[in-house]
Amino acid sequence: MIISICNFKGGVAKTSSTMNIGAGLVQQGKKVLLIDMDPQFNLTTSFGVMDPETTVYDALTKKIDGLPIEKIKENLELVPSSIDLNKAEVELSSQFKREERLTELLAPIRDQYDYILIDCPPSLGLLTINSLVASDEIFVPVEPEYLALKGFAVLEQALDNIGMTLDRIFITKFDRRNILHRDIAQALIDHAGVRVFDTAIRRNIAIPEAIANGVDIFEYDSKCNGAIDYLNLTKEIIEHG
Ligand SMILES: Nc1ncnc2c1ncn2[C@@H]1O[C@H](COP(=O)(O)OP(=O)(O)OP(=O)(O)O)[C@@H](O)[C@H]1O
Ligand SMILES: [Mg+2]
Repeated sequence: MIISICNFKGGVAKTSSTMNIGAGLVQQGKKVLLIDMDPQFNLTTSFGVMDPETTVYDALTKKIDGLPIEKIKENLELVPSSIDLNKAEVELSSQFKREERLTELLAPIRDQYDYILIDCPPSLGLLTINSLVASDEIFVPVEPEYLALKGFAVLEQALDNIGMTLDRIFITKFDRRNILHRDIAQALIDHAGVRVFDTAIRRNIAIPEAIANGVDIFEYDSKCNGAIDYLNLTKEIIEHG
């Protein structure tokens, strides 16, 4: 199963969620590959991988054969990114089947993993399109804040324009005491045609702290709210197939 974690809006917890859902799936006995498709390479840095020799950029632009894979820990592997990836949009644009480069690269290895999660950049360019085209499902993290609903409608429209639909959304940085958060979360749940995961990821300082320490939330503090929420979300993902 290949899943893109995508939202054109920045800072909604795409990268944190890719990292922690990935780690949660590993805890549940799954073998997982994470792919950093963002030229900001936050996912790569979050795991403490610095200056990787080869990255997803080299594979996409055919400078190397196949995807470079770094082992993070047992059953968890990462395809790193680097700032070079900024050049990929331009370099890919003249290639044949330019939207299908990642699909081609994943074809020979996808059966080796239970889940492949792709961390998308916050924009709709060729990198995101490559990720979406390669995916079986598109999950959208949404922060329940002002303009989130409007942004969400724009995202749905943009996906529709390229013939894709988002599959599931999950709410991030949730604060139950905030009435606006509760209202927006409810509006998303009521929105026709979109399935929302029952688990909302609560705002939890341990999430940025874990990243600052180069580890996932379970390794950092397995009892904190962030670990509880990401584990529950992971279980829902496995149950829903
Ligand atoms: N549940 C949470 N509680 C508190 N802080 C969080 C939570 N989830 C994410 N954050 C923090 O919010 C910031 C943005 O998160 P993240 O980098 O995962 O978002 P993103 O969608 O990948 O951003 P970008 O669009 O720049 O790629 C980070 O500092 C992260 O640590
Ligand atoms: Mg990110």
